[in-house]
Amino acid sequence: MIDMHTHILPGADHGSRSVEMSLSLIDAALSVGIDKIAATPHFYLSSGDSVTYFLEKRNRAFTRLLPALGERADKFELYLGAEVNLRLGLSEIDGLKRLCIGGSNIMLLEMPLDKVWRDWVFNEVSFIIDRHNIRPIIAHIDRYEPSQVAKLFDYFPLMAQINAESLMSFFGRRKILRYFDEGLVYALGSDVHCEEEAYLYYEKAVNILGDDRMSRINARSRRLLSEAVSEDLK
Ligand SMILES: [Fe+2]
Repeated sequence: MIDMHTHILPGADHGSRSVEMSLSLIDAALSVGIDKIAATPHFYLSSGDSVTYFLEKRNRAFTRLLPALGERADKFELYLGAEVNLRLGLSEIDGLKRLCIGGSNIMLLEMPLDKVWRDWVFNEVSFIIDRHNIRPIIAHIDRYEPSQVAKLFDYFPLMAQINAESLMSFFGRRKILRYFDEGLVYALGSDVHCEEEAYLYYEKAVNILGDDRMSRINARSRRLLSEAVSEDLK
């Protein structure tokens, strides 16, 4: 199985705080049957960081983790990406495509939490697709207003990622299953930051979704990652 959304690189953002923490999160992921992990540290345009600065920081975190992996390196594939926060002007920055997962053109894109998305939101998404040839996968679609999600997916050929934890509540579950039925969901993620419990949610989510939905989501995620290059962990 695939975890398309994690903050497991040590010190890359406000996720894992140490190599030891990253290793225990990876162990938790492996214990529930995950064999492909996308490391997606936060990229915030508002922090003033350039893409180059972000990539250097991410690479330092990866380089710290790598020698500590030991036998785990044989058990999973790691893809480097980012969770890119959508802000006005994002589409204008240089090298945006370098934030896509594993050198593909697939970008995990985090939307604003506003109740109503203004025109600039739709314009930015349009520019990201058209000017940069990027295919966004909308991060934790469960967090946003359904009316805004419907409008966004009406306008653009997008994909959605859901957080496992969102399936734990009755209302969250209803909303997510509707998105499934509408064919929007392409990936499941733990969005793990520091807590191994995230993988208990992942395991429960797999059971809630059932075999049919999981085989569909795994097939879609695998297809997406087939366009990406995994890191050599040895
Ligand atoms: Fe996240």
